[in-house]
Amino acid sequence: MTTKIVLFASGSGSNVENIVNYFSNKSNFEFPLILSNKSDAFVHERAKNLNIPSYTLSNEDFREGYKVVSLLKEHNIDFIVLAGFLLKISSPILEAYPNKIINIHPALLPKFGGKGMYGDYVHKAVVEAGEEESGITIHYVNENYDEGNIIFQAKCEVLKNDTPENVASKVHQLEYLHYPKVIENLLSN
Ligand code: GAR
Repeated sequence: MTTKIVLFASGSGSNVENIVNYFSNKSNFEFPLILSNKSDAFVHERAKNLNIPSYTLSNEDFREGYKVVSLLKEHNIDFIVLAGFLLKISSPILEAYPNKIINIHPALLPKFGGKGMYGDYVHKAVVEAGEEESGITIHYVNENYDEGNIIFQAKCEVLKNDTPENVASKVHQLEYLHYPKVIENLLSN
């Protein structure tokens, strides 16, 4: 049986591309569509190159949830993976996919999470706080930002001279290495 996964992304989509490539020779996983809340996000370019249809729904559609759920049901989606998706997931979506939505956060939760903590803001905050380590957290999604049960974490060092850009690059490497494998393990059990 194949598992159909949808990827949600608001930005560049480098994780989306990395995940799709990782699964490209694994026939039991399919990526029928990519969903965004931004029509000008670079993830749409990547989707074109990956030959996967990508759609944009408005912030309001995501908040209200019903259009999102019906699009996902139309494509028989089993599992939702957030990869740089910046909106809160609303109750109708959570109820339609209980325990079937995961997110990656670019820091070691519970530190540096919550509203407004995304992408480069996180790395800036980590450097400003003088942290000696950062990393990634893959977690289930619930109604609050970055608060669902943690599935996996991996760490990297933050050196004294590291800039937010350096930290971002180390964290991205961890994301590329681990996110696809964590998804595969979760869905193979
Ligand atoms: C990733 O680092 C991801 O962890 C982060 O956004 C980046 C997206 O990069 N997500 C969050 O901050 C969610 N709170 P990408 O678009 O190149 O995959």
